[in-house]
Parts: sequence; C-alpha cells; structure tokens
Amino acid sequence: MIIGIVGCGAIANIITNYAIEGKLGSELKYFYDCDLERAENLAAQVNGTVVLKIEDMLNYVDLVIEAAAPSAVPLVVPKILNSGTNVMIMSVGALMDEKFRLKLNQLAEENNVKIFMPSGAIVGLDGIKSASIGKINKATLITRKPPKSLGKTLTEKEILYEGKASEAVKKFPVNINVAASLSIACGIDVDVKIIADPKVKRNMHEVYVEGVFGSFRTSTENVRCDINPKTSMLAAFSAIKLLKDLNQNFVIGN
Ligand SMILES: NC(=O)c1ccc[n+]([C@@H]2O[C@H](COP(=O)([O-])OP(=O)(O)OC[C@H]3O[C@@H](n4cnc5c(N)ncnc54)[C@H](O)[C@@H]3O)[C@@H](O)[C@H]2O)c1
Repeated sequence: MIIGIVGCGAIANIITNYAIEGKLGSELKYFYDCDLERAENLAAQVNGTVVLKIEDMLNYVDLVIEAAAPSAVPLVVPKILNSGTNVMIMSVGALMDEKFRLKLNQLAEENNVKIFMPSGAIVGLDGIKSASIGKINKATLITRKPPKSLGKTLTEKEILYEGKASEAVKKFPVNINVAASLSIACGIDVDVKIIADPKVKRNMHEVYVEGVFGSFRTSTENVRCDINPKTSMLAAFSAIKLLKDLNQNFVIGN
C-alpha cells in the first residue's frame, strides 16, 4: 500500500521513524502539512514527496492518515473519500458530531472506501466493541494529565471538567480524543472527568464500562510524545498497528 499523511507532527514523526526501520509493510510516500517545513523534514527521511495541497496526493495513494487537528477533518476527509481513497482518522474528537460522522460514512459507502479509527491512546476498545454486541449501560472516563499536557501551569491538582464527552471535546478538542473514541465505540455520550495533576508524569486514563456482558475497568499510564506532550506514544503505535494489520492475513483482536 502507498500511504499519504496529512499533519506532520508528533504522530507522523513516530510513524515515519517506524517506516525508516522498514517494518511498516506499506510505503509512506506523500506528506502534507500547512507548515511546509514540517512536511519537508519528514519527507526527507523516507525519500518521500511533499505536496502543497491534499488533492496532489490523492491519485497516488491507497490510504491517507489524518494526523493534523480536529479542524482539519472536515477540510480534508470528504476530499479523500470522494477521491475513492481510504482514510485513517486520528483527530477523533471531530467525529463526536453524529451528523458529520454519518455524512462521512455515507461518502465512504458511495465511494466504496473505508474509514479507519485506530484505538489511539485508549485501552480496552477491543472489549468495548465486543461488549457493544449486547447493550452497554454505563461508561465513564477519568483522564489525569500533567498540567502542561492540558495547557496549564498549576502547583495543585485541579478538576478542569466534569460532564459529558460531547461537551469535553468542545472544551479540550486536541486533548480528549479518548473520550470521543469511547463514546463512539460505546454508542453513548460517556461521563468524563478531566484532572490536571502536577504529581503525574504521564497521560492517564481510567475507563469503566458496564453492560449485558458484565463490566470492566482499564487503567492506562501513557508516555507522552517529546514533540507534543498532549499526545501519547500509544496513539501513534495504534495507528502503526492498524496499518500493519491491513496487510496481515492473521489478525488478533476484533
Ligand atoms: N485518537 C487518539 O487517541 C489521539 C491521541 C493523540 C492525538 N490525537 C490527535 O491526532 C492529531 C495529531 O496529533 P499530533 O500530536 O501529531 O499533533 P501535532 O500538533 O504534533 O501535529 C499536527 C500537525 O498537523 C498540522 N496541521 C494542523 N492543521 C492542519 C491542516 N488543516 N492541514 C494540514 N496540516 C495541519 C500542524 O501544522 C502540525 O504539524 C491531533 O488532532 C490530536 O488531537 C488523537
């Protein structure tokens, strides 16, 4: 597969580094970023091609990874789908709007292509997908991050938000993709608490899900990306794993 990427920041850097090691199983070839220098830096590492607009890669790629920003999703994803190209969306917060999500799904159907949403920084999405075959009654998320990851300078712990995921993604759009992933996978607007805690060094997520299947709790302590401390390394790894699975005959997990 030939891959293009939109957004050449933290996630794209990790994917590119992995591609350099020759283990991706696909060719990461086209790079687009509104900051041209970022695209040039990454492209240079894999002998890739920089494009000045998304349209310039669409005839040459099998899949585009969106790793830019929630605001980029409505700008680029419909174009990608309409060109008959598969897309992987990292800025999951943009998909909380159900009307928009259904519109993208319809475009994918019309163009016979797929939209992939990797599990990102959350753990347990496999279990949630299985659980969703029965009814899920309750899902909660507690996110605890160092203040810097939430754009704050604090010396004491502070609860920044308590409420529904749909509101959380509006208030913390680049920080709470996990709330969106969880809500979309569960099919409910989950209850979210966001805590800025100077005592923690990692991005931490505690998930609780209850339904016909029983219940489970997951706890994640994510190492942050050097380039962007808001982003967890696991999110980039999940994109890489999903990409690799697309080329595998033996796929583990749902
Ligand atoms: N699904 C998850 O669990 C998860 C986890 C972490 C991050 N994310 C999301 O993935 C996305 C990428 O994360 P990152 O840490 O690599 O971000 P980053 O800020 O490090 O890099 C984003 C890059 O995209 C570029 N960009 C922004 N808007 C653009 C546009 N409209 N067109 C072209 N380029 C654009 C920026 O210039 C920047 O270089 C973010 O939206 C982030 O919230 C999702």
